[in-house]
Amino acid sequence: MLILGIDTSCDDTAASVVEDGAKIISNVVSTQNEIHKKYGGIVPELASRMHLEMILPVVDEALHKAGNNGFKDISAIAVCHGPGLIGSLLIGVCFAKSLAYVNKLPLIAVNHLEGHMFSSFLEDPVPEFPFIALVVSGGHTNLYRVNGFGKYNEIGKTLDDAAGEAFDKVAKLLGLGYPGGPFIDKIAETGNPLAIPFPRPILRDSLDFSFSGLKTAVLNFLKTNSSSKQDSSLVPHPSSLPDIAASFQSAVVDVLVEKTIEAARTNSLNKIVLSGGVSANSFLRKTISKRAEAEGFKVYMTSPNLCTDNAAMIASAGFYYFNHGKHASFGLNPKAYLPLGSAYSQP
Ligand code: KG4
Ligand code: ZN
Repeated sequence: MLILGIDTSCDDTAASVVEDGAKIISNVVSTQNEIHKKYGGIVPELASRMHLEMILPVVDEALHKAGNNGFKDISAIAVCHGPGLIGSLLIGVCFAKSLAYVNKLPLIAVNHLEGHMFSSFLEDPVPEFPFIALVVSGGHTNLYRVNGFGKYNEIGKTLDDAAGEAFDKVAKLLGLGYPGGPFIDKIAETGNPLAIPFPRPILRDSLDFSFSGLKTAVLNFLKTNSSSKQDSSLVPHPSSLPDIAASFQSAVVDVLVEKTIEAARTNSLNKIVLSGGVSANSFLRKTISKRAEAEGFKVYMTSPNLCTDNAAMIASAGFYYFNHGKHASFGLNPKAYLPLGSAYSQP
């Protein structure tokens, strides 16, 4: 069974055709990085305008690459309806509703966080329920106990910035590009993670996260170490960038790994699923693999291109909704705030 997935939740216009929730037939992502990088962050109004321009060619390309004869072989259309930027979500949801209506196909609404989680179902082997899921992206840092499809129990979340947001903000302070995560990942390869003892915000007896203090610690470090400079810029000398990047990255990774391992331990589960843009981070992948192996846990990670936003993950989750007979109505509206769990009772 082929499902067309669509995601326009943030700044990527994405469409994909997936077979039986597992096999990617086509996967097209049009990023807007070039547009937003000069502002150092996403400008919501520009994002929705670009989605409007790109949605038709992106969906067209996904169908074309899948070799489909239009919608003839497609069984359903799955769309991300939240959480995300409301203007961006609106484009994808309205477009998906129109396609479903015109082609007389079922419409399926998928939560973006659930989509990220289901990106692991596009890899081999697929994780078996129950497992611990860490969804770590530019907008979210959440831990779930996942007991089955649609059975998500949130056991931890960030109280302030998401981990990806911290990467992006620190990259901006360091004068690196946007989005910052991949730049820090790369430059940290040659740095010493022990060079600067940035704080590890652990929040005892809780699986919650907090990253805003860490971002401030980097800012204070730059202020303290920029006194000899003539201009007011805090951007450090290029020679010190690798150590700062590696030290910041290792602080974020230590906390993510510590809490995730703790979640698996306290829930007596030995399977961990990593997803979301930050799970593409090479140091996180290395560190959690080592820790999990030592604890006897198995970690499921998707290939880096499926960690960041894509529509294959939406089509994959959509397949499970379809099998459970969970279709959305044409009254579907996007929601900027949509905690995971509420998506299961389809609108
Ligand atoms: O999942 P995603 O594409 O979009 C959201 O749902 O937010 O995640 C984007 C985030 C950005 O903050 C980006 O800097 C971060 O993921 N990211 C990374 C890496 N690749 C992407 N962070 C650290 N290391 C990476 N290699
Ligand atoms: Zn995402």
